[in-house]
Amino acid sequence: MDFKSKIKTIEWIKDKNVSRMVDQLVVPYEYKLVDISTSDDMYDAIKTMIVRGAPAIGIAGAHGMALAALEIASKTQNSDEFLTQLRKKAEYLKSSRPTAVNLMWAVDKQFDHIKNSGKTVDEMVQMLIEHGIKLENEDIEINKKIGDYGAELVPKKGATILTHCNAGALATVGYGTALGVVRSAFAKDNTVQVFADETRPRQQGARITTFELVMDNIPVTLITDGMSGYFMEKGMIDMVVVGADRIAANGDTANKIGTYNLAIVANYHNVPFYIAAPLSTIDTSIESGKEIPIEERSHEEVTHINGKSICAEGVKVINPGFDVTPASLIKGIITEKGVLYPPYNESIKKAFAL
Ligand code: MRU
Repeated sequence: MDFKSKIKTIEWIKDKNVSRMVDQLVVPYEYKLVDISTSDDMYDAIKTMIVRGAPAIGIAGAHGMALAALEIASKTQNSDEFLTQLRKKAEYLKSSRPTAVNLMWAVDKQFDHIKNSGKTVDEMVQMLIEHGIKLENEDIEINKKIGDYGAELVPKKGATILTHCNAGALATVGYGTALGVVRSAFAKDNTVQVFADETRPRQQGARITTFELVMDNIPVTLITDGMSGYFMEKGMIDMVVVGADRIAANGDTANKIGTYNLAIVANYHNVPFYIAAPLSTIDTSIESGKEIPIEERSHEEVTHINGKSICAEGVKVINPGFDVTPASLIKGIITEKGVLYPPYNESIKKAFAL
């Protein structure tokens, strides 16, 4: 499908050696591109969520490694020293956000790509730039495959698909995972529609998902997070598809806070609940969701909306950014290698072997 918005969330600009990204802090009020030219600025861009969404921050990490390599190469041409300093930068970049494993995956992939290459420092810098661009391009291809596999699961013509947070073009390099499924489904049947959860506290659903879908003329209705049960009870939701930040070897899945509630409500109402994610989101080094580190975010995200306090001063606050949906509530995991079904320990292993 050739979708109209043509969003490219993050892109390496070769003649400037910068990473150009959509500033997601100002969407939907503005659509502004920013150039990130140092690895420290890349760390900040990921941490402050100028770039967000698991696959997109993975590519940001990959570009961050290329920027770090350029910086280190301007100080040393000694390969061992270069690799030692780059390894430190890799750890630093990976510490910018803890939950989405795509960040660790992409940064490690970059380091592994050069560590035993035996090339000169300048050659390794070029290798990192080219490899970052390759990962960037592959992301869109992977999302299109996820979209096409997911579109096959839409249960009826004119279906209503509910999603949470933003797992769209702006959470990836382009096309999206959960919204990739929506885009592919809509290409086959233009009576498909979306219900988008607002997604408190940062409102990625209201700000970003609705922005993308309205731009693509895909019908979308915004609801608040607590409304999903109401609409499911009325038979108005046919399918739930969300993205993921990290999937354990047993299929337990971390995604934006509120996803777990949604999965419970969907299961109660027999509405199929799917995860759409690339294999790079699956962390086979951990057995279950209990091992997934959950990011604790600023309390102001909860106490304030658009800079204005919405609660009594001094109230206690807690703000985990993600929750873990147990595998037992997930009907299938839609990946670029096809749809994985329970038992996930086995289907995940098979998908990696393909
Ligand atoms: O905190 P965010 O906005 O980075 O969280 C994003 C999500 O939870 C997405 O659903 C997830 O990264 C999947 S993106 C394809």
